[in-house]
Amino acid sequence: MTHRVLVLPGDGIGPEVMAETVAVIELVNQKLGIEMSLEHALLGGAAIDAEGVPYPESTAQKAHQADAIILGAVGGPKWDGLDRAIRPEKGLLGIRSDLQLFGNLRPAILYPQLAGASSLKPDLVAGLDLLIVRELTGGIYFGQPRGFDTTDDGQRRGYNTYVYTESEIRRVTVLAFDLARKRGSRVCSVDKANVLEATMLWREVVNEVAKDYPDVELSHMYVDNAAMQLIRAPKQFDVMVTGNMFGDILSDAAAMLTGSIGMLPSASLDQAGRGMYEPCHGSAPDIAGQGIANPLATILSAAMMYRYSLNEPQAADAIERAVGVVLDQGYRTGDIAAAGEASVSTSTMGAAVRAALENVL
Ligand code: NAI
Ligand code: MG
Repeated sequence: MTHRVLVLPGDGIGPEVMAETVAVIELVNQKLGIEMSLEHALLGGAAIDAEGVPYPESTAQKAHQADAIILGAVGGPKWDGLDRAIRPEKGLLGIRSDLQLFGNLRPAILYPQLAGASSLKPDLVAGLDLLIVRELTGGIYFGQPRGFDTTDDGQRRGYNTYVYTESEIRRVTVLAFDLARKRGSRVCSVDKANVLEATMLWREVVNEVAKDYPDVELSHMYVDNAAMQLIRAPKQFDVMVTGNMFGDILSDAAAMLTGSIGMLPSASLDQAGRGMYEPCHGSAPDIAGQGIANPLATILSAAMMYRYSLNEPQAADAIERAVGVVLDQGYRTGDIAAAGEASVSTSTMGAAVRAALENVL
């Protein structure tokens, strides 16, 4: 079977890190005899420049036909002045909701070689490997009604709606429990069930789903406590599952525990396991065009793609091992280099990963 993969390089450092990632993918495919068609399309600012909209119909068509999508990042100051409806980030929200990518997987892994990069004490984060599963297509970011109006006494007012249906909660919870089974068999569900009705339902449905997973240990935590616990003792967590807004905030906090945004991949999955894979970082306009961005987050996103959408675990393992090898060998881009340590370019890092792959495959 030929896997159909859509490549969306995006903006800023997106095309730079994607070039290295595509070269890694091609090498892995060739070594393991994996058949894949790689198509390219535009998203974000690049799409606005070419077609006037951030998520063009031609991109949508290719996206619907793909088994998996790999994305660099979108956005940048060039498009900041545009109307909100055609900002690059709209392309991202558009493709996520168009493809119903409801399950956002955000791993936070501390590489032992980079232990010094965390802002926490080494013993608090050594061996950290947690996975946040964030609901991505519902909750307060999408709830209706939303908007602005004016109150009777003439004040401007803005409002959003925090709403979840039980099926939205169930599908992301099932995903989290299935993933927990393949890891440490613990799920912590994060809500605000002491205050918000939508999350009271969240807790109820999570408890119902848990009945089908007697082998997985479930705990519940209020989001404010979860924020404290993530900073106080992050290694207590295996899989955390939560709604869209709480997940947005907690996953960024968790990312910082590792101290290296340039290392963190993510996946966004639909019901059938098709997905979009992208680094957690943005388009980094401050370093775009300099050839110094860290390509490892995108390369590791490709590993997640092989694992979660393409069912090629061997390819995923090989890429992850190769990244470990290059870190062992001391290759560091500027973002992960210690003070005074020499740093390498994007292309040198990519080439080092491919050289390591030649050995592990
Ligand atoms: P950012 O993640 O692009 O950059 C934050 C800082 O981290 C910058 O100093 C940057 O140089 C550094 N950095 C990020 N990725 C790096 C890498 N791979 N290697 C080395 N250093 C790296 O976040 P920022 O500055 O808030 O946003 C910049 C643009 O990206 C904005 O237009 C924003 O909307 C967009 N953005 C897009 C995202 C996406 O496409 N998923 C996610 C976050 C932001
Ligand atoms: Mg965020």
